[in-house]
Amino acid sequence: MTARSQHRPVPMPVTTERLVLRLFTPDDLDDVYAYQSLDEVARYLLRPPLTRDECARSLAQRAAGTEWTEDGDALVLAVCRAGTPGVVGELVLKLASARGRQAEIGWIFNPSYAGHGYATEAARATASLAFTHLNVHRLFARLDARNTASARICERLGMRHEAHLIENDLDDEGWSDEYVYATLAREWKERGSTT
Ligand SMILES: CC(C)(COP(=O)(O)OP(=O)(O)OC[C@H]1O[C@@H](n2cnc3c(N)ncnc32)[C@H](O)[C@@H]1OP(=O)(O)O)[C@@H](O)C(=O)NCCC(=O)NCCS
Repeated sequence: MTARSQHRPVPMPVTTERLVLRLFTPDDLDDVYAYQSLDEVARYLLRPPLTRDECARSLAQRAAGTEWTEDGDALVLAVCRAGTPGVVGELVLKLASARGRQAEIGWIFNPSYAGHGYATEAARATASLAFTHLNVHRLFARLDARNTASARICERLGMRHEAHLIENDLDDEGWSDEYVYATLAREWKERGSTT
């Protein structure tokens, strides 16, 4: 049974108590550039901050389709506060293996909106979407071991700290370690995690 054969159409938008998660549009460029261009946001993303052109290209790609059937397909959701215009961050759900129903989750938020639990709330809703609508069996996150804010989100979601990879990457500051967190569909269900 593959992710392709079992997943139901993604209901859009996804709403939570305080947030609306929706597909991106080209009109989101200013909001996305505002956080994707920051050094502090890119610090643990293993790539430099994005230029305005790179943000525009990535938005065009995101607007082109929401196919989530083949390895490498990614669903990228804009996170907005309910009743307030503007994008405060984004959630990414990447199909790592359609056959094994493995998906990687990631999050990037504008630091102006940090510390309110928005990233955690959006991540929880996206994890629910993965298990409920996309037939994901195992959801995992990979993060720089120094990225404590990101590790705290994984822990708040109840993800298991499965791996600590030692010096598996090299950046301008030297060698860095990686953490892998994960949770299974049955564990998510047992915990009764909801959006
Ligand atoms: C990772 C990232 C999204 C975390 O942002 P964040 O603001 O810490 O996360 P949240 O929005 O979930 O906020 C959590 C904080 O809000 C607090 N909070 C306040 N009100 C809250 C509420 N109503 N509900 C939940 N938490 C709340 C929590 O206690 C927590 O505080 P703590 O960090 O002191 O534990 C952000 O740092 C980021 O975008 N970094 C750059 C990109 C990046 O590295 N992405 C990850 C790649 S793996």
